[in-house]
Amino acid sequence: MSSIVLFGPPGAGKGTQATAIMEKTGLPQVSTGDMLRSALSKGTNLGLEAKGYMEAGDLVPDGLILSLIEERLKEEDAKNGVLFDGFPRTILQAESLAKITKVSMVISIEVPDDNIVERIVGRRMDSETGEIYHIKFKPAPSGISDRLIQRKDDTEETVRSRLNAYHSQTAPLADYYSNLGVLEKVNGNRNIIDVTNSILELLV
Ligand code: AP5
Repeated sequence: MSSIVLFGPPGAGKGTQATAIMEKTGLPQVSTGDMLRSALSKGTNLGLEAKGYMEAGDLVPDGLILSLIEERLKEEDAKNGVLFDGFPRTILQAESLAKITKVSMVISIEVPDDNIVERIVGRRMDSETGEIYHIKFKPAPSGISDRLIQRKDDTEETVRSRLNAYHSQTAPLADYYSNLGVLEKVNGNRNIIDVTNSILELLV
């Protein structure tokens, strides 16, 4: 069992690029952000515990995240590895992950902070299919505007907190994985297709 990690700041394009990687590798996507939002919408204890952190743009405590991941990796579809999206986000999460699964590649999507706010504030999601759009960079097809939703934490104010959390707690993981020889950097500051093509070249 060996897994791939999609790594990068909020709005780097991890969720956007996950689809092509899943199609190419057959690995299921495991997004801690999606799992937390699902828990929140179902009103579970985990969702309620995570709510305040997410709305403030802070990281949810490691213990909650790690128990979520441990449970998820027990599922049948995870037996050959998974595509992690937004996990791990702290050194402790990465060290804990190393005890349960091998990480064969960490794809770091690099985007400057200056571009992140516009990406986040303009993001819209199709509530029926989960497809990610952007009002300027990837407009949704006509006729589905009533299905488009905006995430509660996609405000200019919250994204600045998320970027702070990224730089102080998550960015150090690049060195951690570089030292393990598995980090692959991709310039994410290009159009979506070009980024996808660079990522697919890494997977041949
Ligand atoms: P999470 O849901 O993981 O959010 P995130 O890391 O902030 O990442 P995003 O989903 O915002 O961005 P993305 O990189 O997937 O970008 P996307 O493809 O959508 O986490 C939310 C919260 O949950 C956290 O703040 C934290 O509280 C908590 N949490 C989650 N995991 C945790 C963990 N492990 N530990 C602790 N806490 C955790 O693209 C963004 C927009 O840009 C879209 O509109 C898209 O269309 C557009 N776009 C994408 N690529 C391009 C491109 N190349 N050019 C132009 N536009 C583009």
